[in-house]
Order: sequence, then structure tokens, then C-alpha cells
Amino acid sequence: VTLKITDREGTKHEIQAPTDMAMNLMEVVRSYELAPEGTIGVCGGMAMCASCQCYINSDNELPPMSDDEEAMLSEAFDVQVNSRLGCQIQVTPEMEGLELELAPES
Ligand code: FES
Repeated sequence: VTLKITDREGTKHEIQAPTDMAMNLMEVVRSYELAPEGTIGVCGGMAMCASCQCYINSDNELPPMSDDEEAMLSEAFDVQVNSRLGCQIQVTPEMEGLELELAPES
């Protein structure tokens, strides 16, 4: 699927993400090196660091938040109504055209 990702410098990237590899949005951002090593995915995708926080700017249907994701976001900085943890969202075909913006480094 095509994802539109705005990095922390405000640069927009249109990238292709596979839907058949069980990748999550944090892993996609890392594999395209859209954020410097060590600034995203710090906890390894365990919903325990919020370094993968992103703002979802399109109305694609996404899986609901787990209790762990909700709890982590309630403690994170720069949280907005459209905040999600990228590591908790697996890439699926429903995400065609998804627009997301990386939250500031925390
Ligand atoms: Fe740590 Fe997502 S990588 S919360």
C-alpha cells in the first residue's frame, strides 16, 4: 500500500509498504530510515516508550487501541486526539493512502 509519511523535519515521503510481512508502521518508518536510528522504536515495539508516536491525518480504518497503547499514550508528550503508537498498527490493505506524521522526538 502507499503510505504518506511526514517526517520530523516536515518532509513528506510517499512510500510503498508491504501488507504481507506483518510489518507495523514503526518498522516501516525504520526500514525507510525516515527517522534517525535510536529515535524511533526504542522499546522494540512493546508499547512502552512512545518513540513511535504518530498523528494519523487521514480517515483510514485502523485497529482499535489496546489498553497498553492507551496507557502509554496517556503518559506521552505531545499527544493529540489523532495520536497512535506506530508499533501497534500492523500494515493492512485498508491503509491505502494513509497519511501519518511522526510526533516530535520525546
Ligand atoms: Fe515503543 Fe512503539 S516502539 S511504544
